[in-house]
Amino acid sequence: MKVCVIGTGYVGLVTGVCLAEIGHSVICVDKDEAKIKMLLSNKMPIYEPGLDSLVLKNINSKKLIFTTDISGSIKSQDIIFICVGTPPLPDGSADLRYVEEVAKEIGSNLNSFKIIVNKSTVPIGSGDWVSMIVNDSLNEKAASGNTNNMNNTNASKFDVISNPEFLREGTAISDTFFPDRIVLGSASKKAIDIMKELYEPIINQKFELADISFDPKDSKRIPVVETDLVSAEMIKYAANSFLATKISFINEIANICEKAGADVKKVAAGIGLDSRIGSKFLNAGIGWGGSCFPKDVSALTKIAAEYGVSSQLLNSVINVNSQQRLLVVQKVQELLKIVKGKSIGFLGISFKPDTDDTRDAPAITIMNNLVNLGAKVKAYDPVVKNMPDTLNVKVIMCENLEDVFRESDLIILATEWKEFAEIDYESMGKLMREMNVIDGRNFLQRDILTGLGFKYTGIGC
Ligand code: UDX
Repeated sequence: MKVCVIGTGYVGLVTGVCLAEIGHSVICVDKDEAKIKMLLSNKMPIYEPGLDSLVLKNINSKKLIFTTDISGSIKSQDIIFICVGTPPLPDGSADLRYVEEVAKEIGSNLNSFKIIVNKSTVPIGSGDWVSMIVNDSLNEKAASGNTNNMNNTNASKFDVISNPEFLREGTAISDTFFPDRIVLGSASKKAIDIMKELYEPIINQKFELADISFDPKDSKRIPVVETDLVSAEMIKYAANSFLATKISFINEIANICEKAGADVKKVAAGIGLDSRIGSKFLNAGIGWGGSCFPKDVSALTKIAAEYGVSSQLLNSVINVNSQQRLLVVQKVQELLKIVKGKSIGFLGISFKPDTDDTRDAPAITIMNNLVNLGAKVKAYDPVVKNMPDTLNVKVIMCENLEDVFRESDLIILATEWKEFAEIDYESMGKLMREMNVIDGRNFLQRDILTGLGFKYTGIGC
């Protein structure tokens, strides 16, 4: 099938290359010339395990093309994916100007029946909104006498379908080939059937993967949720908000455990065995961040407000999460008493492992607070090498672990990169001024560290 993917961020790039890998001819379009140039020279604009080799393979097989030519790509392809960003506006609602831009482009380049797929995370009702903009742009075109050889009524010229993505950074490709479900929301049965045909290899798990590093689940048939546009849009927000709620819940439990002397890791294991609860996303720590949870949970509170619904739970989920970061600052004060003039080293900056994404990373909030309290803050991250814009410029970005441990009074683990579990803490500890560690992800071995003479502080354990 002939697919056009507009927007080559996380969602667009991963969706595009995976659709090419299962046999479709895919054109990925972006107005950012530099980005397209990078991709054409096989340099990835994002850090995502396995992405570069899959892109190269599909460029070479000519199933994947990168271009800045949006009009030609829309005209030549049948299924148009909208995968542009919907960043948060200052009030927390989603910024839809890029989606609007693309919808206008689609309308003015409609030369045959198209399926328009909303894959960007868009507020409830955006599917109909996109239809309206495409129609308006189409009419404008027709009014200007240029009908792109289209000579029948608008309605049959396109269908809009919502197909939200659930991929996680760091496992995006595996999440696309082995999803828990595929959600298709549209008023058009025709559009749903065409999308099922597009995803058929994934639905039936019938595709060869050259790179076997991706862990195929038990490759059973993937469930398809067929629904209406609005419900599909809501599934996306509800899913992310529920996962964020689960994390804020276990973090609140962790804070109670700390006072009561219980071990949150044991508590999480104990409740997680209940199939109604499930063990995933019960890792207590310094809270959630990233490009999705923060913006999606706050956008949902805005949507609720629009409908006059009070989102007390969602607001609490956000507050608990912000508090969790500040709790670490309190732990530092309890541990070091005087923070001013102390040297504190951070292990990890990215909001989670296996990504270079620092958007709304908990580590950054904590580091900025400690700098404001007069501490000398250093940080080491395996892939984040450039100073994030949101990080206080006084923070020292370390090239290696020795530098972050040397002369430090405290080490804070903020991101659970695998390599941090393999550090030689015995020799690193000797470089420190005081062997204090706050394990912000309950990731390290308390017994081993205390055995080496570290004063270990976890989150709720
Ligand atoms: C998330 C959703 O998982 C994904 O389905 C959606 O498509 C995009 O948003 P992502 O932002 O990549 O994916 O990160 P995720 O792995 O979900 O982690 C989100 C945050 O929660 C991270 O900061 C992570 O450190 C934190 N987290 C996750 C916890 O604190 N505890 C957990 O148990 C799990």
